[in-house]
Amino acid sequence: MGSIAVQEETIGEGRPWWKAATFYQVYPASFKDSNDDGWGDLPGLLSKVDYLHALGVDCIWVSPIFESPQKDMGYDVSDYQKIYAPYGSIEDVDTLVAACHDRGMRVILDLVVNHTSIEHAWFQESRSSKDSPKRDWYIWKPARYDSNGLRHPPTNWRGYFAGSTWTWDEHTQEYYLHLYAPEQPDLNWENKECREAIYEDTMRFWLRRGVDGFRIDTVNKYSKRTEYVDATITDPFSPYQAAPEMWCNGPRIHEFIREINQVLAPYSAVSVGELSNTPDPKGVLPYVSAKAKELDMVFEFSVIRLGNGDLFSGKYIYKPFPLSQLKSLTEKWQCFIEGTDGWTTVFCENHDNGRAVSRFGDPSTPELWRASAKTIALWQTTLSGTLFLYQGQEIGMTNMPTSWDITHYKDVEAVSFFAEAMASGDEERIRKTRHGLGILARDHARLPFRWNEDENVGFTTDETNSWMRIPQERGISVESQSGDEQSVLEFYRRTLALRQEHQETFVFGTHQLLDRENESTWAYVKEGFVVGRDGTEVRRRALVVMNFTAKMAPLMDVSRALGCARDEVRLMVTTGGKEEGLDDGALSAWEGRVYCDFDLDMATSDSRHL
Ligand code: NOJ
Repeated sequence: MGSIAVQEETIGEGRPWWKAATFYQVYPASFKDSNDDGWGDLPGLLSKVDYLHALGVDCIWVSPIFESPQKDMGYDVSDYQKIYAPYGSIEDVDTLVAACHDRGMRVILDLVVNHTSIEHAWFQESRSSKDSPKRDWYIWKPARYDSNGLRHPPTNWRGYFAGSTWTWDEHTQEYYLHLYAPEQPDLNWENKECREAIYEDTMRFWLRRGVDGFRIDTVNKYSKRTEYVDATITDPFSPYQAAPEMWCNGPRIHEFIREINQVLAPYSAVSVGELSNTPDPKGVLPYVSAKAKELDMVFEFSVIRLGNGDLFSGKYIYKPFPLSQLKSLTEKWQCFIEGTDGWTTVFCENHDNGRAVSRFGDPSTPELWRASAKTIALWQTTLSGTLFLYQGQEIGMTNMPTSWDITHYKDVEAVSFFAEAMASGDEERIRKTRHGLGILARDHARLPFRWNEDENVGFTTDETNSWMRIPQERGISVESQSGDEQSVLEFYRRTLALRQEHQETFVFGTHQLLDRENESTWAYVKEGFVVGRDGTEVRRRALVVMNFTAKMAPLMDVSRALGCARDEVRLMVTTGGKEEGLDDGALSAWEGRVYCDFDLDMATSDSRHL
């Protein structure tokens, strides 16, 4: 498995390695294809480990690579111990882990254990008969019948991908539960034997092979309310109702997660759970409080879901939002960790959302695209918590062009929502859903990674094979940006390095939002402490100011915001590139800057991290 040269486990009191680490999510099907079948693979990823290392990545999160019929891009696993052949082999995983460890990097896998695929042997057995020893490993319920004798599902719950959460099984004459597609039946975590099998066959199996932890899919949905009753009707036009209160954060969820923690602990494995439908700090803290011994971190989705429509059914009816909302949600999850023993994550992209530059920035011209992608980089790299980047974010990849028609959307969710809108026959709903998909669909982030400017973008050699259409925006590629000091990629490299160098301020510092009502510019002060040579604590403050518009914007009084004398203010970085001759009174379109109150040369030589 190769030598393990990873950093020591902790970098200080309460400072495990993963807090200051930069994580990078790889969506393997779209990252790098090594054998020209149009589907990314593990050898392709392996060939890019040095690229990720040079970028400043500490840990790679690999989205699901296990055996799967791919109804939901591998989030429907049919065998947790086999690799889906187009991705490669289990030996390729070992090689990847060893290659990362050799470089001081780590690898986490995606753990999808709320549900399996219908093709998983456990489900095949469970559905074989009502007396099957594994019947209770999934959630089976009898039908309800109305006064006309018509059969109905056990509850009125709506699934994530439209339609009911229940599918009828002819063979055993019962319904099974699936929060996602019918091909993704939910496991019954109430069953102890089932839980033990999950721990042994999925978690320990991979931990023993040397992976460093897991991103845990749908982590707060394992415990359902066991009454199985109808949800309140919130969408009178649909037979199916959003019901997260029935299956999210259920009565036994913390017990189950503590069990997971006990499985992971002997391996010192890191865990980051996907925590949906929990937008309040009171609900999140029990999952990530160090004392609670549950998860190291979670993804809370308030920021990344901005723009999503109402309820489950209206997700793709786009809802514009003001900058002040983005600011206050960011502030909320920054300040969440102050005075608590919890931890937070920083991210604005993943495989389930449109591209950040198309949602929070401005890709309307090449200049604005570049400026706004860099300002997004500045925003993300100056926030406290563990930073997660998504593949292609570092080169400012954008959503698919609006000229591409609906047939280019492959994702089960986009396809189901669009079909549902079409079936309604409501022209307005169809138009709005199509518009929302153009901004929010999961497909945007799944387009092939642009390595170079060739037709095949270096993703594969024969572009006609590619599983998704290849975007052709010139200038958005690793090749065209490498070495160009003004590029998005080089800016990420620089700010990721600055983040590490000044981690007391950026990763561990406090967050103070200024001028919160301003809908054009965004400013916050980050403050941290280092220990100076003489052993005393030295305060280090940084002011992040960003223009979130395409027009010039007045610059605030920087020394006042930093609380220091004018001659103590230093410019740390600007997205504009040129540090000399900067306008002290204004920010140009989409420009972002960081000022600080300390001498930059002294920052590391004269001090050490706490
Ligand atoms: C969350 C994953 O991120 C998403 O892609 C998937 O569709 C669902 N969980 C179901 O596993």
